[in-house]
Amino acid sequence: MLDPRTSSNGAGGPATDHGAPADLITVSSDQVFTLGNEHFGYVFRVAKAGVLEHLHYGPPLLDPASANQHHLHAGRPLSVEHRGIPDYSLRDLPQEYPTFGSSDFRSPALHGINGDGNSIFQLEYVSHEIVDGKPDLPGLPSARGDGSQTLRVTLRDALQKLEVTLSYTVYRDHGVLCRSGTIKNFGEKAVLLTDVFSSALDLPAADYEVLHLHGSWAAEFSEQRVPLPQGKFSIESSWGTSGAFHNPFVALLSPHTTEASGPVYATTLLYSGNFRIGAETSEFGSVRLLCGINPFNFQWRLEPGETFQTPEALHVYTSQGLREMSRSWHHFVRDRVSPLAFRHQPRPTYLNTWEATYFDLTQDRVLALADKARDVGVDMLVLDDGWFRGRQDDRSSLGDWEADADRFPDGIISLARQVRDKGLKFGLWFEPEAVSRRSQLYEQHPDWILHVPGREPSLGRNQLLLDLSRPEVVDHLIEVLDGYLASGVIDYVKWDMNRCMTEVGSAGWPNHRQLEVPHRYQLGLYRLLATLTRRHPNVLFENCASGGNRFDLGMLHYMAQGWISDLSEPIGRLDIIHGASYLYPLDTTAAYIGPSPNHQNGRDSSIGTRFRAGFFCAARGISLAEDDLARNAATLKTLMAEAKSTAAAMVGGDFYRIIKDPNEYCWQYSSAGGDQVFVAFFRVLSRVSEPFRRAHLVGLDAQAWYEHLETGQRYRGESLMHSGLPLPFGKMGSTGDDHGRLVPKRDFLSVLYTLRRVDGP
Ligand code: DGJ
Repeated sequence: MLDPRTSSNGAGGPATDHGAPADLITVSSDQVFTLGNEHFGYVFRVAKAGVLEHLHYGPPLLDPASANQHHLHAGRPLSVEHRGIPDYSLRDLPQEYPTFGSSDFRSPALHGINGDGNSIFQLEYVSHEIVDGKPDLPGLPSARGDGSQTLRVTLRDALQKLEVTLSYTVYRDHGVLCRSGTIKNFGEKAVLLTDVFSSALDLPAADYEVLHLHGSWAAEFSEQRVPLPQGKFSIESSWGTSGAFHNPFVALLSPHTTEASGPVYATTLLYSGNFRIGAETSEFGSVRLLCGINPFNFQWRLEPGETFQTPEALHVYTSQGLREMSRSWHHFVRDRVSPLAFRHQPRPTYLNTWEATYFDLTQDRVLALADKARDVGVDMLVLDDGWFRGRQDDRSSLGDWEADADRFPDGIISLARQVRDKGLKFGLWFEPEAVSRRSQLYEQHPDWILHVPGREPSLGRNQLLLDLSRPEVVDHLIEVLDGYLASGVIDYVKWDMNRCMTEVGSAGWPNHRQLEVPHRYQLGLYRLLATLTRRHPNVLFENCASGGNRFDLGMLHYMAQGWISDLSEPIGRLDIIHGASYLYPLDTTAAYIGPSPNHQNGRDSSIGTRFRAGFFCAARGISLAEDDLARNAATLKTLMAEAKSTAAAMVGGDFYRIIKDPNEYCWQYSSAGGDQVFVAFFRVLSRVSEPFRRAHLVGLDAQAWYEHLETGQRYRGESLMHSGLPLPFGKMGSTGDDHGRLVPKRDFLSVLYTLRRVDGP
C-alpha cells in the first residue's frame, strides 16, 4: 500500500506529528524508495519481477530518482535470464534482500529448505508502509526510535507462501540506518530457515579495504586493515557469545580513507550471540555485505503461521573518514541504544575486590577495604567473585547465590547496608548464566544445563552454562536476582560470563529444534535482562565476559557500561581502548588501576600511567590490595579526586584518535559543549633523536582561546588544530621543566593535559 504521506516525486513532504520530518523516507510513483537525511542517502526501487534493486548508498542525492541511470543491465556471457526476462540476470544486480537459485550465485540474505524440499525462494515486492518512529523488535533489543521514520517493505514468495518484511529506520539527527527483517510462513508446510540475515548491502565495484577488530582474552579489539580480497571475507562467532575473537564490527573503506577523510561503510549487529558479517566480492568486483546471525550451525523451523524476527543491523556511511564514523556511532549508541537512566550520568569511582583479594574474601576484609576505599575518596565498593556459599576458588558453587555463612555471617544484604553506612555505594558480582558441577543448583536440576544426550559436557573454567532457552531457567534467575535487587541496597551489578558454549543442546526442546537453541538462549538472556533492568532501572549494570568476550550493542542496550578487557596493564590496554573506540563511546567502558607488576602480562608501570590509560573510560576505579592501597594512599587520593571532578565531563563528549603509530598514542576528549578538552599522550618505548611531536587537535572552536592548565599557556583554537599542541619531549636528566614540556626520558611515558576554554588571551 502506498502511504498517503509520501510524495510522488521523491522530494519533500509534510511534517509528521512526532517531530520526524516526512522526507526522511519518500517513495516516487515509479516505486523508487529514497531514505536519508543530511548525513546519507539510500535509494532502491522495485525492478522487474518485483525484485528490490539497490541503487545508491552514500551521500544524500539531490535527485535520487536518477540513481538508476548508473546501472547497466546488459546480458553477459554465461548469465542466466531471471524468470526468462531478456537481458535481466540477478548475477550482478545489486539487491536489497537476495535469495539463491535463480541466476544469482552469490551468498543469499535468505536461504533454507521449503516445504517442497528444495531451496529455491523468489521474493517479489507486494507493498510498503511508512510509520513514524520505530516499532520494537519482539524479544530482541533494538535502538530506540524517537525522531525517526521506518519504512516496511513486504515481499512475498507466492509459491512457498513465505512473506518477508524488511524494516529500514532513518533518524532525523543521526547518520545511522537500522535494518532488520521479519519472515512469516503463511503456507501450510513448515519451512526450515538456515540463513536469515538482518541486512544485505550490495555496493558497486571499487577498491575496498576492510577494517575489523579481532582478538582474544586480554587482547580484545585489535584492529586490522587489509584489502578486501576477491571471493569472501567474513568475521563471525560460533562460540555462543559475540566474542573477543571478532567484535561484530566491520568498516569498508577506500584505500585512501584516513581518520580525517574518505568514504566509510560501517556495520554492526545489535546482538550478543553467534553472528556473521561477511563481504563477498563478485566476479565483477561488486561487493555484497551480509550482516546477521551466523548461518553456521543454525536452523530455524518455521511452522505455518509462525514468524521469525532477525536482530537489528546498523549501518553508518560517511565521506569524512573514521573519526566521523566513530562520532556517529558514539552519539547514536549513547542516545538510542544504551539505557536512558545512565545517559550523561557521571559514573561512580569504585574499588573492585577482584585483583585486590581474588577469592580470599571475608566480611571483615571487605569492610576494611571499604574503609580504605572511602579514605582515598572512591564512591563505591564492588564485591567481585567469591562471596557465595563454598566459593573458595573457581571450581565450585556458581548457581548457589547465597552468601557464604562462614565468611559473611551477616549475609550480603547486611554487608551492603554496612558499606552504605560508610557513605559508599555497594556493587555485587554475579555470573547468573553459569553453574558449577559442584553446586546445589546442578544437583537439583542436572537437566538445566546446555548439553546433548549421551555426551559428557565439556567444562570451561570448571563450569557449565545454564540453558537459557528454557523459560523456567530464566524465571528462576529472575527470581534469584530480583530477590537481591529488590532489597534496594545494591547499586551496581557486575554481570560476568566466563565460558563459551559447547554441546549446545537443550532438554527443553524437541530434536528438530536443537539448532535453534543458541538463538533461543539469546532470547532467554534478553528476557532476563529486560525484566531485571525494567524492574530496577536505577541499578547500574556492568557487562563483563572474561573482559570483552561479549562486548556488543545487544548487551549495552541493557547495561550502561562494560569491562572491555581483563588486561588491566595500561600499555597493553592502549590498543584495546583505541580499537574499541571505533564503535563504542568510552562512556560505555570501565577501567581500574590494577596491581604492578601486572597480573596478566607481568609489566611494571607507574600508578599515573595506569590511571591515565583508563582516564577516558567513564567508570574509573582501583583494584589493589590493602598494602598497595596504604603505600599509595596519597597518590590514589589525588587521582580519585581527579576522576571524580572530571566524571561529569567524561560522559556525552567527543573522543578522537589523534595519533597511533606502534610506539605512540594520542587521544583527545572534548566534553559536551567543548569547554574542557583532555589530551592524553603515551609513548611506549623511549627513543633517541625523537622529533618534537605535536598533537593536531580537532573539533575545537577556531576563534576561541584555550588555556593549558598544566603550563598556563593560552592558545587559539585554530593554532591547536593547525599548528598543534606541543607534546612532551624526553630529555636525559630532565626533571620536568619548560612548563612540563621536558620530561625525563623513560619507557611507558604518559601525560594528560587539560585545556579549558577561556575568555581571551
Ligand atoms: C572474569 C572477569 O573478567 C574478572 O574481572 C573477574 O570478575 C573474574 N571473572 C571473577 O571470576
